[in-house]
Amino acid sequence: MKLGEKVVFVGIVIVVAGFMGRNLWYLNTTQEVDKGIPYYSTASAALGRSAMDIYRQQNCKGCHSLWTVRDLIKAVPAPILDGIGSLHDEGWFYQYFSAANPQSILPSRLKAEYRMPSYAHLSENERRLLARYMASLRVQDWYLEETRKAEHEKLTGEERRP
Ligand code: HEC
Repeated sequence: MKLGEKVVFVGIVIVVAGFMGRNLWYLNTTQEVDKGIPYYSTASAALGRSAMDIYRQQNCKGCHSLWTVRDLIKAVPAPILDGIGSLHDEGWFYQYFSAANPQSILPSRLKAEYRMPSYAHLSENERRLLARYMASLRVQDWYLEETRKAEHEKLTGEERRP
């Protein structure tokens, strides 16, 4: 190699190493960049399957979004169910699904046709399954406040003041 070539070669090596170093530094210092999906379920596969069967039969997705699945045409502004088990417990869900008038538990701001229907007509077993599954839908702590805020906005139509 001629001297000129060596200089160019060393120059390239320095630039490449510099970029690699910068990226490594960036990866190690900015852990906020990608925390992943904040929603998860603690349910067993069997519980998930039986609850989602009821969820499909009752067409909950006609109004709600869960695991990014929802009815885009109806676009009812119902709360998103991802992470909902971090906002209520199993007993609450069971009461809610069993109530003849769910709005006595959670008031609605919507027209009657968009409101949460009563599921008191489902069998006790079905309501228990749904309640257990809803309670298993959790959100990571770092996204809990966001989830609360989004729920509050859906329920009231207002932004939540801190
Ligand atoms: C006709 C639309 C509609 C259908 C169908 C529906 N929901 Fe709802 N749901 C709502 C609305 C709207 C609310 C918010 C309260 C209200 O406005 O009545 C709600 C509230 C809820 C809540 C409480 C959410 C919170 O923020 O606390 C849960 C849990 C829930 N629904 C689960 C279900 C499940 C499970 C099904 C199916 C078995 C279902 N919903 C079917 C419209 C619907």
